[in-house]
Amino acid sequence: MEKFIKNILVTGGAGFIGSHTLITLLENGYRLIILDSLVNSSETVIKRVLNLSNLHDKKRESMAIFIKGDVRDQKLLINIFETYTNSLQSIVAVVHFAGLKSVFESTKFPLQYWDSNVSGTINLLKIMERFNCLNFVFSSSATIYGTNNKNLLIKENDVINPINPYGQTKDVIERILNNLISEKNKKWSIAILRYFNPTGAHKSGLIGENSKGFPNNLMPIINKVAFREIKELEIFGNDWNTPDGTGVRDYIHVMDLAEGHLLALEYILDKNNKSNFIKLNLGTGTGTSVLELVDTFSRVNDVEIPYKFSARRDGDVSYSVADISQAKSKINWNPKRNLKEMCRDSWNSYKKQKDYKFRKLH
Ligand SMILES: NC(=O)c1ccc[n+]([C@@H]2O[C@H](COP(=O)([O-])OP(=O)(O)OC[C@H]3O[C@@H](n4cnc5c(N)ncnc54)[C@H](O)[C@@H]3O)[C@@H](O)[C@H]2O)c1
Repeated sequence: MEKFIKNILVTGGAGFIGSHTLITLLENGYRLIILDSLVNSSETVIKRVLNLSNLHDKKRESMAIFIKGDVRDQKLLINIFETYTNSLQSIVAVVHFAGLKSVFESTKFPLQYWDSNVSGTINLLKIMERFNCLNFVFSSSATIYGTNNKNLLIKENDVINPINPYGQTKDVIERILNNLISEKNKKWSIAILRYFNPTGAHKSGLIGENSKGFPNNLMPIINKVAFREIKELEIFGNDWNTPDGTGVRDYIHVMDLAEGHLLALEYILDKNNKSNFIKLNLGTGTGTSVLELVDTFSRVNDVEIPYKFSARRDGDVSYSVADISQAKSKINWNPKRNLKEMCRDSWNSYKKQKDYKFRKLH
């Protein structure tokens, strides 16, 4: 008899974190319906994920279905739930990555951010409720925490006070999810995952962090400097209250994050668990300064990263590092990959993607 296979809808599955999570979910026997508008990704990523997943050709087609579309498209969502809901199988959960993620862009185009992130999530939750699919894993962010210049590890119940539209959209979605949990007659199970600084890539290098437009995160910019597309790295502030004066962050390997999603999903699907609502920081619990990251990247990859210091930027903080004891105790998550692996995998993936694009042009 065929093992009961669970259908999971993954929104934003062609993106950086989504694509790596697809691999982990496929390896663990889930059937995936992947919805992505490709506003910040490409369909090639899905093809590569399927090639990396060790499933043979016939099985691939039935285990991962890609649909190009927007989470704000109500008709499309209804169609997806109708198609995959019958007496034998239904969509048991949604892992929701889809959204816009640039802090800087969100200050320039706040309406786009509120619409895509908040309206998109409300739309999705309404359709899920209609089809009685009440298990939800949500991508939140460390950006929602208030300014922390005391250099203490951040705990989940610390003050929430986002200072940019992007972080505010995440905060509002978290509040909506809190409301759903307190509804009396419905039994939602929800995992909110607050990522710190995702980086690295799958060890194959075939997928990675490939935002359209200029990147906002540090590692993709370091890759560009290493590839000599940018002359030097601009480091904002060398007078922070940290050992070397540069900002300290908590970098987390994207494959460790992917495993965190699997564990969180399994937690909310297991109705024997005590709680139907978990909010977890996903980081390593270890802080790394900008200069330490640059130094590790240079040594591991044997490439020079020229840099210069500029003034601090508004809204930056000296220190943002997670307390991850909740994720360890509640879902038994233990990130395994270190900073050297993050630097090596990130550069390996960047070079491979560049080489691929170069070969396509010539
Ligand atoms: N990467 C980070 O540093 C980071 C940190 C904290 C939280 N997050 C959150 O994690 C999630 C995934 O981040 P990522 O780094 O993989 O970003 P990403 O941009 O690589 O992936 C997001 C994906 O969602 C798709 N998308 C965007 N809007 C959509 C819409 N309205 N409908 C359908 N698809 C849509 C994009 O095309 C993209 O493939 C996002 O919600 C982001 O806010 C990311």
